[in-house]
Formats: sequence, C-alpha cells, structure tokens
Amino acid sequence: MQNDIDQVLIHRADIARRVEALAKQIAEDLALASASTSSDEHDHAGRITLVPILTGSLVFVADLIRCLPVRMQVKVISISSYPGPSTTSQGPTILGGLDTLPKRLDGANVLLIDDILDTGRTLAMVIDHLKAKKPRSIHTCVMLRKQRPEEARFNADYVGFDIPNRFVVGYGLDYNGYYRNLPDIVTLRAEAIHQRRHAEAV
Ligand code: IMP
Ligand code: MG
Repeated sequence: MQNDIDQVLIHRADIARRVEALAKQIAEDLALASASTSSDEHDHAGRITLVPILTGSLVFVADLIRCLPVRMQVKVISISSYPGPSTTSQGPTILGGLDTLPKRLDGANVLLIDDILDTGRTLAMVIDHLKAKKPRSIHTCVMLRKQRPEEARFNADYVGFDIPNRFVVGYGLDYNGYYRNLPDIVTLRAEAIHQRRHAEAV
C-alpha cells in the first residue's frame, strides 16, 4: 500500500493538530448555541446533533468527537458520490440513513460533517433534507476543501485544510473502497489507480 503513494499532502501529525484546533472552535460555538436555547429535555431545543456523512468522514469524525466535550447525539447518514473506480464526482446518491434521522429536529443545532468539499452537491442535498426537519441551526464542517475556483458553490462553516484540486485518499477517503486506513492524506501513483481499477473489473 505504501508503494502506491505518490505524495503525502498532509501528514498525520498536522491532521491531529488541526482537528484539535477545529474542535476547540466548534466546541465554543456549539456551547454558545446550546446555552442560548431552552434546555427542556422533552423537546429538541438546545440539543446538539452531529450528522456525519459516511463512509468518508468515518476517521475524521472519530477523532473530532473525542475532542468535543459537549453533550451531543450522533446520527450517521450514508452517501456515495464516487461509485467504484471513479475519480470525479458522479453526483451524490443517498445510500441510507436519512430515514433513520428523527422526523423533526425542532430547535436542535445540527452540525453536518463530511470528509471533503468538492463540488458542494453532497452538502447542498443533505442540507435540503435537514431543513425540512426544522432544526434551529445547521452548520457544516469538512476536513478538506478542494480549491476549485470554477465551481460556484456554497461554503462550509468549518474547514480543516484547503487542498489543490487533486484526487486524494487516506484518513477515511477511498479510491474504489481502498486506502481509507492510510493515516496521512496522500495522492496516488497513476499505476496504483490503474491497478485498483483493474482489480475491480476482474
Ligand atoms: P461533492 O458533492 O462534489 O462536494 O463531493 C463530495 C464527496 O465526494 C465527498 O464526500 C467524498 O466522498 C467524495 N470525494 C470528493 N473528492 C474526493 C477525493 O479526492 N478523494 C476521495 N473522495 C472524494
Ligand atoms: Mg463522501
């Protein structure tokens, strides 16, 4: 697996430092948001609900929530934008989870979390669904944001790192289901992409 790496874009130590800083900022904002609403346990007012988008945000969320010392619920949803051996977005498809979210989120402060903001279509689609549940607020957090000046897209509220417009894997991000377990965020050698694509076809 190590031989497949072209370049380490973000080292695990830098990721760890950034996640901690991001969590500190989020915790302060969430604490303020939840304090400014009623704390009635019987409604959603003041509740903090994290909605991670799987599978890519798996590792990021695991690290982030352990740095967030606030009362929260976690409700995962599952979306695929890069099915199989694609390295460009095919448009988001909901795989599951939206129907397992509470029917209403009245008064809840929602933090939607994804691994990477590329075209922005995934977050835009999920936000549309969440809005119908009437939460008090929806904020968005991504580990990575691709620099795509040509894309007119909405922005995330919290961003770990800005990266060039290249296909990356590791720290939860995959190519054709592989490489999620790499601890650094890396680009792949062209031969590796070819091999993994071929491996899928047989
Ligand atoms: P968007 O809807 O175009 O913003 O796509 C975001 C989704 O595409 C992310 O949740 C990732 O699953 C996937 N994605 C975008 N860029 C990459 C990449 O470079 N590597 C792996 N997955 C990516
Ligand atoms: Mg994703």
